[in-house]
Amino acid sequence: MNPGNNQRLYINEVATRDGFQMEGHFIPTDDKIALIDQLGTLGYAKIEVTSFTSPKAIPALRDGEEVMARIARQPGVVYTALVPNLRGAERALDVHIDEFNVVMSTSETHNLSNLRMTREQSFAQLAEVIGLARGANVPVNVSLSCVFGCPTEGEVPQETVMGWIDRFAALGVKGITLCDTTGMAYPTQVQTLCGAAMARHPGLEFTAHFHNTRAMGLVNTVAAVEAGIRRIDMSLGGIGGCPYAPGATGNVATEDVVHMLQCMGYDTGMDLDGLLAAAAQVGRLVQHDLPSQLPRAGHRLTRHQPPADFPEIVARAAARDAKRDTTETLS
Ligand code: COA
Ligand code: ZN
Repeated sequence: MNPGNNQRLYINEVATRDGFQMEGHFIPTDDKIALIDQLGTLGYAKIEVTSFTSPKAIPALRDGEEVMARIARQPGVVYTALVPNLRGAERALDVHIDEFNVVMSTSETHNLSNLRMTREQSFAQLAEVIGLARGANVPVNVSLSCVFGCPTEGEVPQETVMGWIDRFAALGVKGITLCDTTGMAYPTQVQTLCGAAMARHPGLEFTAHFHNTRAMGLVNTVAAVEAGIRRIDMSLGGIGGCPYAPGATGNVATEDVVHMLQCMGYDTGMDLDGLLAAAAQVGRLVQHDLPSQLPRAGHRLTRHQPPADFPEIVARAAARDAKRDTTETLS
């Protein structure tokens, strides 16, 4: 425990992209915009607003342009969006996003399933996207899927992951997100991979992205932060998942992670009460129970009433002491 540490961490919200892409019903555009406007004042470093993917692949986010164009952008918050190809990049440029979050998988099978391209085909398109972004002065982050394992291929070798990071670094991207797409990561692996990536590319901004599929999301977050990661993706309510990755479930929940990091003394810059209100709003929009735990339990110093018969318990305990005192005096 390190209650005195005051290190700054940067929190990225992905509920409106990773979360909403996985929801069965279409969340109305006006509701998405109102939620993002609510989030803008809560202290986030970044909000992943939407994705510019094929509306056939991700129908839930087919309103990306309208959402991006109508949100109220707060100064200091980076409004980003997921971009899988050149068509997506052109759409994103039209609505002036602050950053491209380009995506590809380090697993060939997952890349083919999710993006319908080989990894080489994705890389070739993304190299063009990065050129386009440079011309428009838009920074690029790369979200690399399945870096801690692939649900169809199993282990993804660390050399494979490093190879893709090297190739994107050579193209001049600003940052890399290490994505645990289906919650396969475990803490020692997180420490090793995050540590190795940061040591190899000290000039890149690394972000960690965990799904809580096997209940290791929070401990993996701690492992990443202890390895030196300062930027973390998370999703309000713990919604999320890739529709093209078998067994995918939600991201680590923003309110759970922020509460934990604040308890540990990290400076997240986040308004926790505001997050709880926003998580409740996410619950209303998705219309199902949320996996996050903090809204049910309250923060750790939430105080509860003692049992209804507590006065009687206290009186009986006092009577017991009185009786013992009398017995001791008599003997
Ligand atoms: N935005 C909107 N439309 C797009 C598009 C984009 N980014 N990319 C392609 N399209 C359209 C094309 O214009 C074409 O339209 P048409 O049928 O009317 O002519 C159609 O989609 C097919 O284009 P093609 O290039 O052959 O794409 P594809 O069908 O092979 O799909 C992707 C490739 C990458 C666009 C698609 O797989 C995708 O969007 N995947 C994203 C998955 C995702 O977001 N997963 C979760 C996040 S990790
Ligand atoms: Zn994800």
